[in-house]
Amino acid sequence: MTTRINELSKHVGETVTLQGWLYAHTGKGKLVFLQVRDGSGIAQCVVFKGTVDELTFETAQRLTQESSLIVSGVVKADQRAPGVPGGYEISVITLQVIQKAEDYPIAPKEHGVEFLIDNRHLWIRSSRQWAILRVRATVMRAIRAWLDQHGYIEMSTPVLTPSAAEGTTNLFEVGYFDDKAYLAQTGQLYNEANIFAFSNVYCFGPTFRAEKSKTRRHLTEFWMVEPEVAFCDLDQLLEIEEQFVSYIVQTVIKENQAELKVLGRDLDKLTHILPPFPRITYDDAVAKLKQLQAETQDPEHKQLLEITWGMDFGAPHETALTQLYDKPVFVTGFPSAIKAFYMEPYPGRAEVCKSADLLAPEGCGEIIGGSERISDPDLLLKRIHEQELPEAAYKWYIELRKYGSVPHSGFGMGVERTVAWICGIEHVREASPFPRMLNRLYP
Ligand code: 4AD
Ligand code: MG
Repeated sequence: MTTRINELSKHVGETVTLQGWLYAHTGKGKLVFLQVRDGSGIAQCVVFKGTVDELTFETAQRLTQESSLIVSGVVKADQRAPGVPGGYEISVITLQVIQKAEDYPIAPKEHGVEFLIDNRHLWIRSSRQWAILRVRATVMRAIRAWLDQHGYIEMSTPVLTPSAAEGTTNLFEVGYFDDKAYLAQTGQLYNEANIFAFSNVYCFGPTFRAEKSKTRRHLTEFWMVEPEVAFCDLDQLLEIEEQFVSYIVQTVIKENQAELKVLGRDLDKLTHILPPFPRITYDDAVAKLKQLQAETQDPEHKQLLEITWGMDFGAPHETALTQLYDKPVFVTGFPSAIKAFYMEPYPGRAEVCKSADLLAPEGCGEIIGGSERISDPDLLLKRIHEQELPEAAYKWYIELRKYGSVPHSGFGMGVERTVAWICGIEHVREASPFPRMLNRLYP
């Protein structure tokens, strides 16, 4: 029977068998140190000339990076063992090489990012990438766990869609027999139908946007979770969001200690992520940004912070705002003109809508976009006309407002941006196993 490396603590003093790959290799006289990884962690396996036969020792000495192997030996607790989660090492008894790898291209040295992404199929084996993608798996599990525990029904929404929901400029068009279709930018509109059958729902899957921009926050394919809630206004929505995000962060802290250590993540930036999160209106945020702009001495930064009411925030604005808080911050009440057509306007102030973006700390930018939805069919139709959207494609969507319309709200959270924030990494591309970006479809 084989043992997983992350379970070695339960087997101290016992003889275990590990199956994995050689991650790194050093030697000193009668000792060879094999860093073996098995997907669950890295263990230091020590081969001592005095306790193994001649052939085993020579095999260990010549073993190359990424060779696959089966190793057995006795588990010892050793706090000094480097790179060993919990500090356990194996005194090797037998070593079997399954395949000797030759010339593995990702040597333990610095490589350029383009080279690493070209080799993404191999790069994911590196401990940093391993750690990020394990955190991603926890985030995805926590997303489902929280929603399932709170009575949300998971609904699959279509990937092939007939119309746009989040703007027409970033649609991926695909042939659909004699017609055309678009890859889904969101499942929201379908979830708005689903709530009338199930009350609280969510969809969770890949989302597509033909983003022509090359930024550290944009992918062309990303994963988004979208909860939608009947009988829910914007204030109630924000309470749901802050609980949801806090649960995800706290779950990662609890379950991914080893991974966060590999990433060198400062846990002080995460442990206090608990409700409530601060809230600021768009109006106040613009005033604050103007003040920050006036105060800054740096002419370049002054220019980047330039803002007038009605403009959307750019990355410098979001970064400046989030620096004022040590938790994610909600910005509410954006101008309707820069938001999607379906957002409910504020009563008596139609130029702003009941929208909220959640901006993550440390310059990570918007991780959630959400809003209360228009519940009046006539107003919705007016907005569709204003935005010059094809009315026929939205017939069913407008109809939802005719048969028992209710105030309802929902949000979408991007998985990669959330993972990038929690892991403290610079670029969302590392938060996706095989990122898709402008100019990047391989491997
Ligand atoms: O703000 P967005 O565009 O909102 C919607 O799509 C709504 N229909 C969601 C809803 O209310 N059901 O996108 C939501 C989130 C963003 O906050 C961001 O985290 C992520 O999706 N996102 C991206 N992530 C990576 N690359 C991109 N190109 C992204 N575009 C949006
Ligand atoms: Mg948005």
